[in-house]
Amino acid sequence: MTAGAARGVGERVTAPFGRRLCEVTRNVASGGYRIFSTLDPSGPEPAAGQFYMLAADSGWGGDQGRPYLARAFSVADAERQGSGVRLDFLVQAVGPGTSRLAALAPGEDLWIHGPLGRPFAAPSDLAPGAPGAILVGGGIGVTPLALWRRRLLRAGIPARVLLGFRDRPNSGGLDLFDCSEIRLASEDGLHPVGGHKHRRRTYRGYVTDLLAVLLEGDEAGSGAVYACGPPAMLEAVRVMCADRGVACELALEAPMACGFGACFGCAIPQTPKNGRHKNRGRTYIRLCVDGPVVRGDEIETALVPGSGH
Ligand SMILES: Cc1cc2nc3c(=O)[nH]c(=O)nc-3n(C[C@H](O)[C@H](O)[C@H](O)COP(=O)(O)OP(=O)(O)OC[C@H]3O[C@@H](n4cnc5c(N)ncnc54)[C@H](O)[C@@H]3O)c2cc1C
Ligand code: FES
Repeated sequence: MTAGAARGVGERVTAPFGRRLCEVTRNVASGGYRIFSTLDPSGPEPAAGQFYMLAADSGWGGDQGRPYLARAFSVADAERQGSGVRLDFLVQAVGPGTSRLAALAPGEDLWIHGPLGRPFAAPSDLAPGAPGAILVGGGIGVTPLALWRRRLLRAGIPARVLLGFRDRPNSGGLDLFDCSEIRLASEDGLHPVGGHKHRRRTYRGYVTDLLAVLLEGDEAGSGAVYACGPPAMLEAVRVMCADRGVACELALEAPMACGFGACFGCAIPQTPKNGRHKNRGRTYIRLCVDGPVVRGDEIETALVPGSGH
């Protein structure tokens, strides 16, 4: 971290050893997604962009076998409560693991392991003198940006927020952004569920169209770009920022079996100059420890096999 960065913003937090059993305290609808919360009695406060491996204590595995492994989840919000930390997660049910987690009732037990991975870095660490941040989220990828916006706000760093969704059923999480200055995009032109506060501002098209407009104007040099969303959106952001010389960080996804660097299931190719694990001339990073947040210039493509849903 450079001297210019706000202290505490963007610093990796190390997970305690092993997984912890926590009680679910809340589960509410958020548009087409759900937000569930738990109280981590002994864990540290995570940094924005970090994730947890989650598994329900009951209804996990069993006779059917699936879901078996814990699933990776970005933390959407985190707040110290007494000696513990309240953790909020945003979930889109797409398969057996996410469906079980989306159905967790208050009082049920949840296994958590984290916080894991590399968080977002402060704007001044990405581009010296960058006064602010532009946050670009797509679909369920809005999750880590909600916590990042709060942390930037807490550090007095201005942030613009652009969020895009496919259609109304595939939208949500807007209640995690308690501000009215979000710019919204949706492919069907309808305002996202829960987006009534922002109805007049919903643009029909891709969220990257909104970013292009920002970067064409005076905003190009006004900060670093942070993005999380489907692979095609992340790739568009990466290319757009590279073409314009704008610093960016992308929160990527890959299928993750362990979440802490042991299985190499999340390895992706890296631009050669930055590589850490060499294999026949190609270089690789493990997204669970070297990511999930990576700088745009660290990777050749954001189109990670097996990611996105
Ligand atoms: C670092 C990280 C943070 C994540 N944060 C969130 C979050 O905040 N909220 C949320 O709802 N989901 C999040 N995910 C995605 C979530 O972990 C996967 O969707 C999950 O593994 C699906 O499990 P399943 O059993 O429900 O479905 P599976 O049966 O595992 O898969 C169902 C569908 O999801 C796709 N899929 C499987 N694994 C992944 C993956 N890792 N990434 C993308 N698509 C996948 C499959 O191609 C398939 O179409 C995150 C993933 C990572 C790696
Ligand atoms: S998920 Fe096992 S090494 Fe990354």
